[in-house]
Amino acid sequence: MTDRKCIAVVLAAGEGTRMKSDVPKVLHPLAGRSMLGHVLNTVQEAGIADIAVVIGPNRDDVAAEVRRLAPQASIHVQTDRLGTAHAVLAAREAIGQDYDDLLVLFADTPLIEPVTLQAMRARLVDGTSVVALGFEAANPQGYGRFLVDGDSLVAIREHKDASEAERRVTLCNSGLMAIDGKRALGLLDSIGNQNAQKEYYLTDIVEIARKVSAKTAYEVAPESDVLGVNDRSQLSVAEGILQDRLRRKAMMNGATLIDPSTVYFSFDTVLGRDVVVEPNVVFGPKVVVGDKVQIHAFSHIEEAVISPFASVGPFARIRPGSSVGEHAKIGNFVELKKAKIGHGAKISHLSYIGDADVGAEANIGAGTITCNYDGFFKYKTEIGEGAFIGANSSLVAPIKIGAGAYVGSGSVITKEVAPDQLAVARGKQMAKDGWGAQFRATSQEKKKSGKA
Ligand code: UD1
Ligand code: CA
Repeated sequence: MTDRKCIAVVLAAGEGTRMKSDVPKVLHPLAGRSMLGHVLNTVQEAGIADIAVVIGPNRDDVAAEVRRLAPQASIHVQTDRLGTAHAVLAAREAIGQDYDDLLVLFADTPLIEPVTLQAMRARLVDGTSVVALGFEAANPQGYGRFLVDGDSLVAIREHKDASEAERRVTLCNSGLMAIDGKRALGLLDSIGNQNAQKEYYLTDIVEIARKVSAKTAYEVAPESDVLGVNDRSQLSVAEGILQDRLRRKAMMNGATLIDPSTVYFSFDTVLGRDVVVEPNVVFGPKVVVGDKVQIHAFSHIEEAVISPFASVGPFARIRPGSSVGEHAKIGNFVELKKAKIGHGAKISHLSYIGDADVGAEANIGAGTITCNYDGFFKYKTEIGEGAFIGANSSLVAPIKIGAGAYVGSGSVITKEVAPDQLAVARGKQMAKDGWGAQFRATSQEKKKSGKA
C-alpha cells in the first residue's frame, strides 16, 4: 500500500453559521490547535504528504493556517457553496494528478485518527472504488444513513431525503471517504443536484459507482472519532474527547495524574517519566516538563520548560518564556514571566519575577517583586548564584544583584548590588523608650476633658 500515491482533500469551506462567531468554524481551537490544524496533522501522521484544502472565498485566515501547518498543501477556493461533491471538485486540478487513492476529509470532523485513514485506504487495494466511513450514531438525526447489503454499501441517503424506514437506520455517514483516484473525477462529475437541498452531494457517489459496476464498501469508526462540530456545544464535546486522549497519553507515558479529569492539556504538552500532576492544573501551549517534576494543584503553565526534579505550585502561574532549573522550587502564588530560574533556586511564596535571570541556589524571599515595567519599556533583573533576597523587596529593573549578595527585607533596590555585598534600602528604625505609656496617658486625659 505504501507505494500507492495518495492525495487528501480537506473540505474547509463551511459557513459555520451555527458557531455564531467572527472566527471561521474550522479555526476554532481544540486543545490549543485549530480543528483544521488537527485534521492536517492527522493526514500527515498517516503518511500522506499530498494535501489539497478547499476553503471559502476571502478566507485569508484559513489559507494562512494551511500554509503554517502544511506548507506543501495546495489551496483551492470554492466560490459558491453548492455541496460536498462540488467542494471536492474545487480541487479538480490537484485530484487530476493521477493518484491511486483519494481521501476526502472534513475540517469540522477533527478527531479522526491516522489508523482509520489507513484502514480506509487499505480497502481500495483490492479494486474497491468507494469506501465510506460510518459510525453507529447515538442520535442519527441529521446524518446521512448507510443503506448496506452485507459488506457492500448500496447508497447513502441524506436525512432530508430519507424515507421513514431509512431514518430508522442508525449506521450513519461520517462524511469521510476513500475513492479510487483513477476513477474519482469521472464519478464526481456524474453527481447531480436533484435532491431536497439542491446540492451536489458527495454521498451520491455510492449509487453512481454501483451503476457503472464499481465496488463500494464501508468502514466503521467509533462515534467519538468522527464527531462533526457544527456548534459550540459540539465543540465542547470534541474538546472533552481530545482532553481524555491527551490525559491517557500522559499516563501511558509514565506521568501520574491524581485526578485526570481536572487536568487540561495543550495538544503539544510533553511530560516526562514519574511526573506527578495534582488536580486542577492547566497546561497552555509549548510546555515541556522533565522527569520527576511535581506540579501541585491549581497551577497554570504556558510556553515554559520545567526541568527534572523541580517543584511547581500549588497556585503557581508560569508564563511564556520561562524556564525552571533542576531541583528548583516555585511555590504558592508565585508568577514567573520570561524568567530563567537556575538549578536549585527557591521562590517559595507570593512573588512576581518577570524578565529576570535567577542564578542557581539563589533564595528569593516571600513577596519579592521585580519592577520590570515603566509603562513604556520592560527591563531586566539579574540575580547571581546563591544570592539571598530578603522578604518583601522590590527590585527596580534594570538591576543586577551579584552572586552571594544579600538584600535586606523590605528593601527597594535601585542600584547594582556587588557580589557578596549586603544592601539594605529602607527607612532606618528609630526607638523612643516609654513612648507607648506616655501616649496612652495623655490621650486618656484629653478624652476625659472632652477636648479633641
Ligand atoms: C454531511 C454528509 C452527511 C454526513 C454528515 C456528517 C453530504 C451530502 N452529507 O452532511 O451524509 O452524515 O456530513 O457530519 O456529504 N462543505 C464545503 N462546501 C460545501 C458544502 C460543505 O466545503 O459546499 C464542507 C463543510 O465545510 C463541512 C463538510 O463539507 O466541513 C460537510 O458539510 P455540511 O454542510 O456540514 O454537511 P452535512 O449536512 O453535515
Ligand atoms: Ca456537518
